[in-house]
Amino acid sequence: MHYQTLLTTLEHGICTIIINRPEKLNALNKTVFEELNKVLDVVLAHVEIKSVIITGAGSKAFVAGADISEFGDLTKEEAMALAKRGQDTFARIENSPKPIVAAVNGFALGGGCELAMSCHFRIASENAKFGQPEVNLGLIPGYGGTQRLVQLIGKGKAMELLMSAHLIDAPEAKQLGLVNYVTTPETLLEHSKQILTLINSKAPLAVAGCIKAANAVYNETQDGYAVEIEEFGNAFATKDRKEGITAFLEKRKANFTGK
Ligand code: COA
Repeated sequence: MHYQTLLTTLEHGICTIIINRPEKLNALNKTVFEELNKVLDVVLAHVEIKSVIITGAGSKAFVAGADISEFGDLTKEEAMALAKRGQDTFARIENSPKPIVAAVNGFALGGGCELAMSCHFRIASENAKFGQPEVNLGLIPGYGGTQRLVQLIGKGKAMELLMSAHLIDAPEAKQLGLVNYVTTPETLLEHSKQILTLINSKAPLAVAGCIKAANAVYNETQDGYAVEIEEFGNAFATKDRKEGITAFLEKRKANFTGK
C-alpha cells in the first residue's frame, strides 16, 4: 500500500512503519493519524505480519509531537474530538493482538512520547529524548499521556515531567522503566528486530493472550485475574498448545501455526 506520511516494509514477518515527515520532525498531523489507522487495519488483516516496529524517519526525531500547526482556534468540542481521535488510535496500538514495539530514534515529545507509550514496549537509541512539553503551550497531553506515563514510571516522577515539561534522555528513560534497552542509533532497528524475531517464534495466540491479560491491569472495567483465567483457557484450546507441549516432551523445537 502507498502512504503519504508513512513508509512500510515487511521482512521476516516484521512490519516496520516509519513515520515519514522528517522536515517536520515527524509531527503527527491528520493524515498521519488516518494512515496509522489504515496500516493497523492491514497489520491485523494479514497473517504474514506477525509483529510491528514503529519508528521515525531521519536521525533526529521519532515524533516531535502532534502537529502544532493544526492547533488553530478549536472550540472546546473540537479540541475534545482531536484528543479522542488520538486516544482511539493509540488504544488500537495498545490493544493490538500482534506485538508493536516503538524504536525511538530521537525526540519523542508530546504525542510522540504518547505514541511510544501506547506501544507494547520501547527501545531507544542513545540520542532519544522523551517528554510531555504540552504545558509550554498552555495545554496538557491529550493522547493518553497523563495516564500511560503514570502507569509506566509511577505517579511522582510522571507528575514532575508532566508539570515541568522537563525532557529526559535515553539512560534516564531506561532507569525509569520507560524503555527496555538503549542502543546506538545504528543498531536500534536491528536490536528491535532481534527481540521481535524471538517473540515471533512463540505461539501467536499465546502472545496475544499475554498482551490482553497484561493490559487488563490498567483497565478498571476488567478483573485482570479473570481475564488471565479466560485467556489461559483459550490458550489451552489451541492447536499450538498441543504442539508446544508435544514438542517439549519430544525434545524438539515447536512449530507453531497460530491456530
Ligand atoms: N508540530 C509541528 N511542527 C513541528 C513540531 C510539532 N510538534 N515539532 C517540530 N516541528 C517543525 C518545526 O516547526 C520546524 O519546521 P520549519 O522548518 O518549517 O520551521 C521543523 O519541524 C524542525 O524543527 P525545529 O524546531 O526547527 O528543530 P530544533 O532542532 O530547533 O528543535 C524541538 C527541535 C523538538 C526541540 C522543537 O522542534 C520543538 O520543541 N518541537 C515541539 C515539541 C512539542 O512541543 N511537542 C508537543 C506538541 S503537543
